[in-house]
Amino acid sequence: RVAYVNGAYVPLSDASVSVEDRGFQFADGVYEVWSVFDGKLADYEGHMTRLARSLTELRIPIPMTRQSLTVVLKETIRRNRVREGIVYLQVTRGAARRDHPFPAPGTLPSVVATSRSVDFQKAEAMARKGVAVLTQPDIRWGRCDIKTVGLLPNVLAKQAAREAGAYEAWMVDELGLVTEGSSTNAWIIDKNGKVRTRDTQANILRGVTRAAILDLLAQEGLELEERPFTVDEAKEAKEAFFTAAGAFLMPTVSIDGVKIGDGKPGPVATKLRRLYLERAR
Ligand code: PDD
Repeated sequence: RVAYVNGAYVPLSDASVSVEDRGFQFADGVYEVWSVFDGKLADYEGHMTRLARSLTELRIPIPMTRQSLTVVLKETIRRNRVREGIVYLQVTRGAARRDHPFPAPGTLPSVVATSRSVDFQKAEAMARKGVAVLTQPDIRWGRCDIKTVGLLPNVLAKQAAREAGAYEAWMVDELGLVTEGSSTNAWIIDKNGKVRTRDTQANILRGVTRAAILDLLAQEGLELEERPFTVDEAKEAKEAFFTAAGAFLMPTVSIDGVKIGDGKPGPVATKLRRLYLERAR
């Protein structure tokens, strides 16, 4: 496998950045993940636009034009011979002597890209069965709208889920409301049959897959409420699922061991997943 690192394509095993990279020392950087279908980037625009916004919010200089970044992504996909999988892009504030304030102007941001194949057949099999979710307290900072590489709370939540035999963790605020998944956005079909997901005024990531699903809901004439839901409402829901690049839309069949609906992926989740995949392919 091959990685792009600051202007060069190198074998992944040799790919490296400085130990004084601010991404490494301060999590001072941002990232994006795209799904790759048939060698092409899914939801290309949405992820690019969010990347630009994350960089602007953190005042990290835009490292190269959108066109050049696209070439890097496509070339990384091509050199890894990925037909179906993901491509990962990370931009940090660059390498500089360790000191909290921003480094001197002119410090070049670090740009790294990797890509790998994902067995979408296996993912499909998982989606047909549905997965378990574990709830965890949301202990993150106040700017979860920025896609930073500071993911320690997310890592701890996901690990807790895996140790409990669940696949994803849903994070819960102090009011008992679900914010989002550790690396996904959270959704339910409430007991009135309405599709519910938290609004993006809240402290969550504005998922690109989430936006695509909102379009599909409008197209299908399904009723939507962008309003937070409690863990109890989720446990009583007809259906539950989560969305992200790579996972697309994954039906959830239990939350904290409580069966959702009849314990099988629901019809709405199943249909939306199919529509999303048809649109992306
Ligand atoms: N995660 N919420 C969080 C906290 C996320 O990290 C992600 C994506 C999402 C979904 O966003 P999108 O639909 O734009 O992928 C929501 C990526 C996939 C990751 O960290 O690997």
